[in-house]
Order: sequence, then structure tokens, then C-alpha cells
Amino acid sequence: MAQLWGGRFTGETDALVYQFNASISFDRRFLEEDIEGSMAHVAMLARQNIITQKEAESIRDGLVSIREDVKSGRLVITDAYEDIHSFVEANLTQRIGEAGKKLHTGRSRNDQVALDMKLYTRKEIRETHALLTELLHTLLSMMEEHLDTYMPGFTHLQKAQPLTLAHHLGAYFEMFKRDIQRMEDIDRRMNYCPLGSGALAGTTYPLDREYTAGLLGFTGPTLNSMDGVSDRDYLIEYLSAAATVMMHLSRFSEEIIIWNSNEYGFVEIDDGFSTGSSIMPQKKNPDIAELVRGKTGRVYGALMSLLTTMKGLPLAYNKDMQEDKELTFDAMDTVKGCLTLFTGMLKTMRFHKEVMAKSAMNGFTNATDAADYLVTKGMPFRDAHSVIGRLVLYCIEKDTSIDALSLEELQSISPVFEADVFEAVSLRTCVEKRLTIGAPGRKAMEEVIRAEKAFLEEADLWSREKH
Ligand code: ARG
Repeated sequence: MAQLWGGRFTGETDALVYQFNASISFDRRFLEEDIEGSMAHVAMLARQNIITQKEAESIRDGLVSIREDVKSGRLVITDAYEDIHSFVEANLTQRIGEAGKKLHTGRSRNDQVALDMKLYTRKEIRETHALLTELLHTLLSMMEEHLDTYMPGFTHLQKAQPLTLAHHLGAYFEMFKRDIQRMEDIDRRMNYCPLGSGALAGTTYPLDREYTAGLLGFTGPTLNSMDGVSDRDYLIEYLSAAATVMMHLSRFSEEIIIWNSNEYGFVEIDDGFSTGSSIMPQKKNPDIAELVRGKTGRVYGALMSLLTTMKGLPLAYNKDMQEDKELTFDAMDTVKGCLTLFTGMLKTMRFHKEVMAKSAMNGFTNATDAADYLVTKGMPFRDAHSVIGRLVLYCIEKDTSIDALSLEELQSISPVFEADVFEAVSLRTCVEKRLTIGAPGRKAMEEVIRAEKAFLEEADLWSREKH
């Protein structure tokens, strides 16, 4: 058991205590970030003449060889080390001797781990951003394809008014667009480098924190060393944004599950994205959508967990903070996995346009438009609402729909109806006349699609700049 802090101790650590305390089983994940941070630190130490150029070169070579050997499998990360920081430092000293012991000059594991976690999270945020952008590209091309695919819109899961699939998908476009903006916001706010904060009070070495911050792609150094080592706000922000992404995916999944049901039959999920039953041969289940919906709970859990861990922690570093990692890593894997699979499922899903249009036509989705028709003929809306209410009742009794009635039948309810009513309550008119911005009418949708294309160009640009 290799420990970095043996000097003060005379007794051995209890084996269970060692295990309980160790983090190598999960912080091995940011080996890359740990090495990247050390490289920047060493470059700065040499630049400030705190170590020699020769020592710096030797440390850098040692770090590169460790990275390569772990990658190739020649060097294995084992739990003989307490954490990834100890693993790297011990191996470095084994490889290059005395110079290796200078790597940690002017640094503490507290600012080191704060840096590693930040670098790792920044990378994850950028990857999540890219996956969200990919999902938006998929949604936008589906929207362009389905500007005339009619379907019922629902409130209370009851048919309300007709709209188009493009419009329905457009609602999710808006949600994921905000998710993208949240990722960009967090990236900007968190992008300050904690390295140089030391254990909590900075150091007496003349470190150039601006320089290391620049090398690592940060906007600048953090401005308070106690906050530098103990800030985990960015993780809470990330988890909150991730929970919101999952909430959106879960709502969308729920709709797909409903649309895919035998009763609705609006969509068919591709064979590649569904599974069967071990006993019922006829089954084709929407497991991916259900799993995405189900996994949402884990990500919410991670957010709650970290909020609770951080609550009541006094300044500065406390070991509690080691608990920021496992659940956050799990949430990161979950969100990226769900986004990837969900987008794949969406791309291969087939829509049964006729079933959707037929469903949009029954269930009195044109009742509002029938009332609006009477208004255009001079009737106050409240009276029109009541007339159409009676008309719907009449249709229910006769098991028919408004547009299937004869003009005589309509006029028996109200003499205001004229022959042009049929055009006014047709499915096409009901949708196409809704032309205010944000509504499902084709012209309005086309305008929105143009704006969203511009948004996506910006998002792609952001992605390219950050990678
Ligand atoms: N494994 C620790 C963590 O994740 C690293 C920091 C250890 N610092 C300390 N003072 N024990 O938080």
C-alpha cells in the first residue's frame, strides 16, 4: 500500500480503513486529466525557476511514458495505490528517480483533484453538448419532412386540437436547445483554474497561476484559494442540467411508448431498437424508450446526493468531497448513453401518417375552429362555444363527427352555418390557419425552422471551437 503521507505515522493503516478511504477504483478515470494538469504545473515550475528545465523535461518524459504504458496495458492501475495522484507520482519516481519527487512542489492533492475533476467535467460537458447538437440536427430534418403530417395535439392526454408532427417535434427541439444553452453557460462559468490554490491557502512559491490556467485552456485562475479547492458548484450545475436533459428525454420516451402502443399505432420502432418477449411471440417492446425513462431516476439521484453531500461542509476541503465522483461519473455515462441511443431510435422510427391523420380527424379536434367559424359570422365567442357544445353532444349521440354532418343538420343546431363551414373545419384548414409565430401552420413553421438552423450553426461552431 503506497501512501503519500507516511512520514507522520508510525502505525499501519487498518486494511478496511485503507479500502474505505481509497478512491483509486473510480478516480483512475481521470488519469489523462491528472497527467495533463501535472504537465502544465511542471512547465510553470520550470518557467518560474522553481525546478530546473532538465528536471522538468525528465518529469514530462516520465509522465508521457506512464500515460503510454497505461494505454498499451504495460502498466496496470491497481488498488495498491490510494488514488490516481499517488499512482502517478509513485510510478514517476520509480521511473525517473529524485526529480519525480519535485512534481508536487507548490501543489496539494486538494487543488490537484479540484483541477482533475474540472478538466474531466469540462470534457464531458462538451461531449454532451455535441450529442445534444446531433439530436437537434435529427429533429430538425424530421421537422422539415413532416410539415404536413397531421396528428392530434393533446391536453390531459385527451384530444385537443390538430397539429403536425413537425410542430410536436419542434416542442422537443426547444427543450433540447435550452439544454445546449445550459451546457454552454456552465462551461463558461466553471472555466477558471483551481491549480495553485494549494491545500487551501495558496503557496509561498512564486507560482504563475495565469500561465497554468492558460496552458490548460481556462479563462483565468480562480480568485480565492479556499473556494478553489472546495467549489463543487459546477458539478451541481452540470447534474442539474443533466437531470433536465433526462427529464426531457423521459417525457419524449413516454410519448413514443404511447404512440407505439397497439391502441395508438402512430409509430413503429425499428427492430434494431426494440426487443421481444421470452413468452409472448407477438411482442415487440419499446425497451429503449422505457430504459431512458427509467434511468432518469439515477441522474436525479446523483443531483440530490451531491447537494446533500455539500450541504453543511465547512471550508475548505473535506474528505466528504471525494463522494462527488462515483455518482457524477454514473450520471455522465447515463446521459451520454441515453442521448446516443435515443437519437438512434428516433432516426430509425417510422411514422404511420394515415393513422395519425385519422386520429386527428376524430375526437372533435376541430370544435374550436367550428366555434371560431361562428365568430367570423358575427356570433360572440361565448355563444359560439355553447352552440358547438350542443353540436358535439349531437354528434356523440349519432356517433359521427362535425364535418360528416349535412348542412341541414348543422343548421338545425344554428341557422348561422353556411356551406363554407366544411372548408372551415377541415383538418387542413384547422392546422394551416394557425399562422402566428410558434403555431403549427406551415408558413409559421418554416420561419421557425429557419431560425433554428441559424441556432444550430452557432452550436456547431461552439462545438468546433471547444474540441
Ligand atoms: N481522493 C481525494 C478526493 O477525491 C483526493 C484529495 C485528497 N486530499 C486530502 N486532503 N485527503 O477528494
